[in-house]
Amino acid sequence: MKVLVVGSGGREHAICWKFAESSKIEKVYCVPGNGGISQVAENADISADDFNKLADFVKANDIDFTFVGPEVPLSLGIVDYFKERGLRIVSPSKAAARLESSKIYSKEFMYKYGIPTAQYNSFSNADNALKFLANWEANKKVVVKADGLAAGKGVYICSGREDATSAVKQMMEEKVLGEAGTNIIIEEYVDGPELSYLVFTDGEAYSAMPASQDHKRVNDNDKGPNTGGMGAYAPAPLATEELNKKVEDTIIRKVIDGIKAEKLDYKGVLYVGIIMNGSSPYVLEFNCRFGDPETQAVLPLLDTDFVDICEAILDKNLANLKINWKKIFSVCVVLASGGYPRSFKKGFEIKGLENIRDKDSMVFHAGTKLENGKIVTSGGRVLNIVSVASDIKSAIDKVYLNVSMIKFEGIHYRKDIAGRALNGKQN
Ligand code: GLY
Repeated sequence: MKVLVVGSGGREHAICWKFAESSKIEKVYCVPGNGGISQVAENADISADDFNKLADFVKANDIDFTFVGPEVPLSLGIVDYFKERGLRIVSPSKAAARLESSKIYSKEFMYKYGIPTAQYNSFSNADNALKFLANWEANKKVVVKADGLAAGKGVYICSGREDATSAVKQMMEEKVLGEAGTNIIIEEYVDGPELSYLVFTDGEAYSAMPASQDHKRVNDNDKGPNTGGMGAYAPAPLATEELNKKVEDTIIRKVIDGIKAEKLDYKGVLYVGIIMNGSSPYVLEFNCRFGDPETQAVLPLLDTDFVDICEAILDKNLANLKINWKKIFSVCVVLASGGYPRSFKKGFEIKGLENIRDKDSMVFHAGTKLENGKIVTSGGRVLNIVSVASDIKSAIDKVYLNVSMIKFEGIHYRKDIAGRALNGKQN
């Protein structure tokens, strides 16, 4: 069997690696891929939004199905296009992907189906948003969110009225996020630990993966600006059986019921980002795809053949597949370029990759490329180092031992990934 993975980051490397592990797989292709993905897949230099070329590539290479990593091709309708061309693809349609690509649609969906989330108001006009904020308390935290996709930069946590006013002006008047900020949400701030629930679904049945936790801030102790994610671990001890049941009963089942009621064509992975409001899980966001870097931590725990899961999703047969997870812990540390998430230099040689050889550790490349036979940095987040072990402390020790072997100019990483799981501090 041949599969195509669309994307070029650490998440896509983990997806390709998991496919390549399957005895059913003859070949994995990745577009456009990256320097490390070429170890497990054949990269093809096609843009992820050139659907016509992608579909021609799938046909020319007799690829059995496609799996999409990032959100942008989904929001542009890759699934609808592939279906028109008679191609199998494990991902949600453009209409279903609005759960991620429009924060306003997503909030309306949550309200309609009784899914717990923070209170909000939506605005399509800056004057109305500013009038609303004029009555906001000076020092009461509030969240301003762009409606559209903003590559992880669309959520501003504001300290009070003045800060939020500035956020609204930046998004709606100065257009710092382009079209993504044409419409916005102003949302009540909830303070609590966060968890990521990734869920396989064929649009009717669903199966939740072990819950994970991302580390969004660039520096230790959750300091500094937000990033695309500096590390993750799974399963998160915060996600007790009791909480998992609550999340399933109050959120996941209702989302799937809503997807059915709205007749949305949803096949693939649903990402439910939650925040604990006291003892109640609230939805922060939906993503219509695997999370990054959560996937790099979660997929090494998967014990069922990933191809079987994808086929069950495509055949709407997920209800009849038992998905097993290894009873181990996984920690993923992101190695970033100096300066990230702000400006950074690229093109530095990465040394020491050959030293990571233990069978419980993986290196998933994010921003790398192969240049004159050498792997060099080519992005903000460069590598994901992942280790698994029977307990979280051993997984942390192992991953940081591996991290210490990698060198490139300007290397930056957090030293406290998964520390929350050890010290009882969950966020
Ligand atoms: N880790 C957050 C995301 O994938 O959007």
